[in-house]
Amino acid sequence: MMIVKTGNEELDRRISGIPHPSTIIVEGDHGVGKTVFAGQIAYGFLQNNMRVVFVTTEALSYDLVVKLRGVKVDLVEAFLEGRFRVVPVNVKRFSWLSKQAEDLLSRLLEYVGGVAVDSIIVDSLSLMASYVEERALLDFIRNLRQLQDKGKTVILTVHPPTFDESLLTQVRSMVDVYFRIRAVSIGGRRLKSLERIKNTGGFVGSDVVSFDIDPALGLRVVPLSISRG
Ligand SMILES: Nc1ncnc2c1ncn2[C@@H]1O[C@H](COP(=O)(O)OP(=O)(O)O)[C@@H](O)[C@H]1O
Ligand SMILES: [Mg+2]
Repeated sequence: MMIVKTGNEELDRRISGIPHPSTIIVEGDHGVGKTVFAGQIAYGFLQNNMRVVFVTTEALSYDLVVKLRGVKVDLVEAFLEGRFRVVPVNVKRFSWLSKQAEDLLSRLLEYVGGVAVDSIIVDSLSLMASYVEERALLDFIRNLRQLQDKGKTVILTVHPPTFDESLLTQVRSMVDVYFRIRAVSIGGRRLKSLERIKNTGGFVGSDVVSFDIDPALGLRVVPLSISRG
């Protein structure tokens, strides 16, 4: 296993990087920065000359690249070179039946399993997950996890309450790293707090990092933390 730097110096100093290969979940409500954080991880892999496929349920391919460039995560070159592939899954258009959603998950699995990439990002899993049975969702994550044995890092973003209490316990046991991002207010500043809830495989660093997303500076670590009383 290696550690892939995200390319964001301050963030790398704090979390040390992303273990590769691994299976990672990034959880957080809408607007906390899951997509930007996932984009930053993609940036790190691409900087290391690796390939990334980014499955998005939120944007069209070019829109995602433009959005990320807007927060200083510039993947344009890698996108044009084909090392950064974006797969838009427009789930909002359909009112699905569970069967169709399960079919989509298995097609997705087939696709990401067959494509020559080092990292697979699914942003987000939540909408797709909401249509399928718990068993199918667990199978999907388990199957993705197997790609780790083929040297791939899988990153899934989710927003609560995708996993209920019992599902969460099972999902946590299946992943190597579990990040939770929350919107917080520290000293009157609205920031995001990135917390590493689960961490295995020699992944060292601090467990809570505060950051801000600024159009001019991108994802910026802020040296402030929440005091726990
Ligand atoms: N172009 C932008 N200008 C300013 N802030 C932005 C911009 N894009 C994103 N942000 C910041 O990033 C946050 C959204 O990040 P995003 O990764 O889309 O969240 P999520 O995927 O968790 O819904 C916003 O709350 C905002 O703070
Ligand atoms: Mg998002």
